Amino acid sequence: DTPDHPLQNARGLKVFDRGFTNTACVESSITFIDGERGQIKFRGYDIEYLYDNHDYEEVIHLLIWGHLPSSEEKQILRKKLLAELKAPRSVVDAIRAFPPQFSTGSMILAGLAAFAALDEGTKRLHSQAEPYYMGNMKNTDAAIIRTLAAMATTIALVYCHKRGKKFTKPDLQGSFIGNVLKMMGKEDDGIEKCLERLWILYADHEMTNSTAAFLHASSTLTDPLSCTISAVVSAYGPLHGGAIDLAYQQFKAIASVKDVPYLIEEVKAKRQRLFGFGHRIYKTVDPRTKFIREMIDEQVRNPILSRSPLLEIALEIEKVASTDDYFISRRLAANADLYGALLYTALGFESDIIVAIASLSRVAGPMAHWRESMQQKPMLWRPQQLYREASNPESPLR
Ligand code: ACO
Repeated sequence: DTPDHPLQNARGLKVFDRGFTNTACVESSITFIDGERGQIKFRGYDIEYLYDNHDYEEVIHLLIWGHLPSSEEKQILRKKLLAELKAPRSVVDAIRAFPPQFSTGSMILAGLAAFAALDEGTKRLHSQAEPYYMGNMKNTDAAIIRTLAAMATTIALVYCHKRGKKFTKPDLQGSFIGNVLKMMGKEDDGIEKCLERLWILYADHEMTNSTAAFLHASSTLTDPLSCTISAVVSAYGPLHGGAIDLAYQQFKAIASVKDVPYLIEEVKAKRQRLFGFGHRIYKTVDPRTKFIREMIDEQVRNPILSRSPLLEIALEIEKVASTDDYFISRRLAANADLYGALLYTALGFESDIIVAIASLSRVAGPMAHWRESMQQKPMLWRPQQLYREASNPESPLR
């Protein structure tokens, strides 16, 4: 009745929902999260069950193609993924154009952009009128495989470039993760076994910021390799995937366990944010945390972790915060990123590559959601703003 009302638009009532705290933007049957009970299900399977009984490739298959694979389907997926692990000259050159000490994130974006420039599907998408991916599951599935492989190869290339190490070609034997480690020159059965379980925990998390960034870009029907660039940019942000490293830096900045109360006071006074704490969806417990703690317990005999005072600092932060009213009243609990970097460090990954490795473990999720969206009616994502006239315009730059 009041068409000039700021909450009215051509389609009806507009909802003002800053940060999308209450807005669902897709219908999906991939991942179910109960933030109150701290529960995650992938395609109806509890994450606990998948963690105990399956490996990363099986979970990728479940997420993307909707069911746990038969052994033949698993072999086909593995074969296709490994066949796409190639390091084209122009991708290598794009990464090597950066001095090794430059930021890992920027090198990954350059590597992915170089992959997109070469990609057959990306070229075809921009040169033909009929939909290349939408509704065409053959093209979509082939692009999913190429994108997963491009992300893995890019990260391995960046890892090697930053350390002046030789890139090792994959050998088309073994698992996807085994070959990622091989390309990085880090072949190790113990690391591989641990990542096979850890990456299940990170494989999808429904509309997480990076998956939403991917889908926002892909709602224009652009190609998945380019959309992965959007996802990686988002995954580097301090409030999202970047928190895994920032939590670790926060532990390192504390000299001893005795200084933890000081950090907590700084946080309560809003002079610092406690990284690895709080979550938009989980208000009681992040179910991934207990598995990461378990894996850390398995690693405590590992000399890197057993000699590190950082684990004690992290445990003390969790203990102090969980009994403090600031955190209790705001329902802030430890999230998956509190201990994540400690585990990666124990496995021998240095700080400059942890966010990247973590974002590789997350890329199956956007692929699953992209595939699902390619089977639905296309719909451009276009949020709206609530316009307010500025009462006191700022002075121009001087
Ligand atoms: N440290 C200190 N205070 C916090 C924290 C934190 N980590 N998280 C939330 N708060 C406070 C807020 O300042 C706010 O306080 P106020 O009521 O006095 O204003 C209150 O708790 C509510 O917080 P919101 O900002 O409304 O919570 P939101 O759901 O928007 O934020 C977020 C979630 C961004 C993850 C936040 O908890 C945070 O910044 N955490 C630290 C970064 C982090 O660990 N990110 C990783 C998330 S998990 C992942 O992406 C893999």
